[in-house]
Amino acid sequence: MASMPTSQVNYRELIQSDRISGRLYYDAAIFAEELEKIWHREWVYVAHESEVPEPGDYVTRQIGLQPVIVSRDEDRHVHLMLNRCMHRGNTVCQSDRGNSHAFRCAYHGWTYDNRGALVGVPYAAGYDASFRKQEFGLAKAPRVSAHRGLIFASLSASGPTLDEHLGPAKRLIDQFVDLSPEGEVEVRSGVLKHSYKGNWKMALENSVDGYHPNILHHAAMAMMMKGKNDMESVFGEGSEAYARDLGNGAAQLDLNPVHSKHGGRVVAPAWSKETDVEYRAAMERRYGAERAEKILAGGPPHFCIFPNLIFILNQFRVIQPIGVEETVVCYYPALLKGAPEEINRRRLTETYLIHGPAGRVAPDDIEAYERNQVGFRARVNEWLVLRRGLHREVKDDRGGNGGIAGHETDETTQRGIWRHYREVMTR
Ligand code: FES
Ligand SMILES: [Fe+2]
Repeated sequence: MASMPTSQVNYRELIQSDRISGRLYYDAAIFAEELEKIWHREWVYVAHESEVPEPGDYVTRQIGLQPVIVSRDEDRHVHLMLNRCMHRGNTVCQSDRGNSHAFRCAYHGWTYDNRGALVGVPYAAGYDASFRKQEFGLAKAPRVSAHRGLIFASLSASGPTLDEHLGPAKRLIDQFVDLSPEGEVEVRSGVLKHSYKGNWKMALENSVDGYHPNILHHAAMAMMMKGKNDMESVFGEGSEAYARDLGNGAAQLDLNPVHSKHGGRVVAPAWSKETDVEYRAAMERRYGAERAEKILAGGPPHFCIFPNLIFILNQFRVIQPIGVEETVVCYYPALLKGAPEEINRRRLTETYLIHGPAGRVAPDDIEAYERNQVGFRARVNEWLVLRRGLHREVKDDRGGNGGIAGHETDETTQRGIWRHYREVMTR
């Protein structure tokens, strides 16, 4: 295997413990290096198993900029193949999703089954006996691994395992999925996508930025609290919540202390009393009264997994870079298997009420990213300040993960993301 070219960029200079350079968001050479070192090498989230529930089902995605197909074969095994014909490189599948037992390249008709094997070559007499179809199956992602239905892939044959990469974030995925009375989430309600003219890292950092909600999203926060709780106690200086660096670029806004103080979720569940009773009963049947109560009081965790997966409230979001200054974020509402219909309907509508084109929250963030990207063109002083709460964060021994905890409005989370980024980019 060819060795990686030595980087021309001094990442230790650009990323310091209390400041980073704006260059990290617009330099095309840095973006190209990120593709090689992060997107085409690290574990990247690709799809959820419930998106391909039946034999023949498939979805197409990208890992970094590389097109892939996730398919389920007739034996119900999931395959992750590169969407690139082995003849001359055409993509063999053009749809976002569908059901097919074969992928036929439109160019010269080479045909692959949904396991990726080459099964048909037109005018086969043009190839002699040395041509063996077995050698021309679609390329597979070297490593694929799943946790609670979430499929991750790495385009590198070696490196840390998915378990090692997820670390304490694995338990947070469990917390998200355990809200289902059957212990499973389903991703079958389509996707809400938005694009912005800005670098992909802004969406990742913003997802665990507890400093901005009361300010950038002031109107939305006031509306969602409905005067029930004091905004300051949730996302303000008076909040008892934590910002946590979980290691490996994973980070969390831990709202548990706020939830328990208010005796449950801060934003009241938007479903009827009857539905609540039914849901609680289903949860107790599965988990027992004590554990069910704990799961319900905790609510959905708020965290991100480097480089492209974010969990907030009812959905997970996936970051897809398009170019150095262009990104798409996909919102997948996750339905709770076994939960009352009304709850899943709410989860779905909340996704577009909050994040749709006229939503309460996402349009603010998108505007902020694009203004950032314009601001980065001003280069007399390129430093961005990342020191908020540096003096008051502590080693976080809860759960023994050895992470770092700060006040919820502190930049502990972003510093964690950048620490991992620098480690990967200087490897
Ligand atoms: S490029 Fe696919 S068959 Fe020729
Ligand atoms: Fe935001």
